Amino acid sequence: MHSAINVSGLNKSFGGKQVLFDLGLAVEPGEMVALIGASGSGKSTLLRHLAGLACADGGAGSSIQVLGRSVQSAGRLNGQVRRLRADIGYIFQQFNLVGRLSVLSNVLLGRLGRMPRLRGSLGLFNHEEKLSAMAALERVGLAEFAHRRASTLSGGQQQRVAIARALTQEAEIILADEPIASLDPESARKVMDILADINATDGKTVVVTLHQVDYAARYCERVVALKDGRVHYDGPVQALSGAFLNELYDGDLDAGLLLPKPAQHGASHIPLSLVAA
Ligand SMILES: Nc1ncnc2c1ncn2[C@@H]1O[C@H](COP(=O)(O)OP(=O)(O)OP(=O)(O)O)[C@@H](O)[C@H]1O
Ligand SMILES: [Mg+2]
Repeated sequence: MHSAINVSGLNKSFGGKQVLFDLGLAVEPGEMVALIGASGSGKSTLLRHLAGLACADGGAGSSIQVLGRSVQSAGRLNGQVRRLRADIGYIFQQFNLVGRLSVLSNVLLGRLGRMPRLRGSLGLFNHEEKLSAMAALERVGLAEFAHRRASTLSGGQQQRVAIARALTQEAEIILADEPIASLDPESARKVMDILADINATDGKTVVVTLHQVDYAARYCERVVALKDGRVHYDGPVQALSGAFLNELYDGDLDAGLLLPKPAQHGASHIPLSLVAA
């Protein structure tokens, strides 16, 4: 069987400044992997490349495959990447819900990548799709909020709606970029419990970037640590000793490591079509 994720020779530069260096990574189906590293180490950039939301530098050896299909190679996106994205659920720190729409409508947006464009653009969801969206909301404990405006929910609830959207999408892989960084500990725990349940019960592959290393330790067996755009460590989470972390974060252990990171603005610049696809 093919890997869930297979990256090799990934280089990325922004305006002449290289931020990812010859990066390689393989994730097997059903794994739940924590991606950690200091701010600016390249975690979000890596995740965006996996989903085909960013294109690597050219270079013959550069390739990214997800679910055995090419997302990009040699710095060129696969022309079929939209179809592949339907199998990738992407969870953002700032949830990326459409605030003025109902919770149920937001969850249904997960179907967009799997239905004809016209029916999707008219929002014509069939009964089966609505049932599946309701089941997803039930699973994240928010069925009673189905008809509320998404913007009226708490941050933790909105993140659970975003996960319900990925469930309704029937994504095979969940890429979650700092899903709990803006949440209080109780909400963070609920969100991580749901991600862990989707991994354990449904066998979905999960890659989650986390600032809070204690959550990585609690929820993931494997951790990949980036440092300055390179894989610094890839292995069992038990290896995360104090000395290791001190080195990984260059002694900056208080930098939001165990504390929620303040909300970042700018996460919602990602077009809705990419989120829902
Ligand atoms: N669109 C962009 N244009 C220019 N530079 C960028 C862009 N996106 C990322 N970078 C740079 O790439 C590097 C890696 O950024 P990235 O956002 O991937 O880090 P990160 O590990 O996710 O950090 P954080 O923990 O703060 O989210 C940083 O130096 C960042 O400034
Ligand atoms: Mg980031």
